[in-house]
Amino acid sequence: MSLNARIGIVTVSDRASRGEYEDRGGPAIHAYLTAVLTSPWQAVPRVIADEQPLIEQTLVALCDVEGCSLVITTGGTGPALRDVTPEATAAVCAKLLPGFGELMRKVSLEKVPTAILSRQTAGIRGHSLIVNLPGQPRAIRECLEAVMPAIPYCIDLIGGAYLTTDPAQVVAFRPKG
Ligand code: MTE
Repeated sequence: MSLNARIGIVTVSDRASRGEYEDRGGPAIHAYLTAVLTSPWQAVPRVIADEQPLIEQTLVALCDVEGCSLVITTGGTGPALRDVTPEATAAVCAKLLPGFGELMRKVSLEKVPTAILSRQTAGIRGHSLIVNLPGQPRAIRECLEAVMPAIPYCIDLIGGAYLTTDPAQVVAFRPKG
């Protein structure tokens, strides 16, 4: 267990990676985590194109080399031809956690009917939890608020860093106290 958690923040977007528009998703994830986490952590940010081999290489490096206990992706979860983030996530994970995608779609559907278009998922690679979010910046808070209560305990179970949260923002649920 590392004292200073490392968290990968991966923006998957052809246009952001080419500098055609500013990455708003990565900073939104960073801002949410800054507001919620009370344990020390360090962001490991990446902005990459919608290329499955590149996404896979990036996820593997963040988990296996950078030692990230948590990797959050944004973008590339939809039905368009170049949306392949869930495929890349599944390819590098030993096991998938479909409940993450199910819950995020459920809460997102209360906001926007096109939430059903997101194929977002989550999974485990070694001591790392990978979670996909849609690319829409406002989806980031909507989705993270739903799944964050379960994330610290999930990371405990896989031997990652010990995350604590500000209970005024989100209560991290640890069934064994
Ligand atoms: N979920 C939330 N909470 N809010 C949103 O605005 N947008 C949807 C969906 N999920 C959205 C959302 C839309 S329009 C699409 S196409 C899919 O996420 C996939 O988005 P992505 O390909 O950018 O990941």
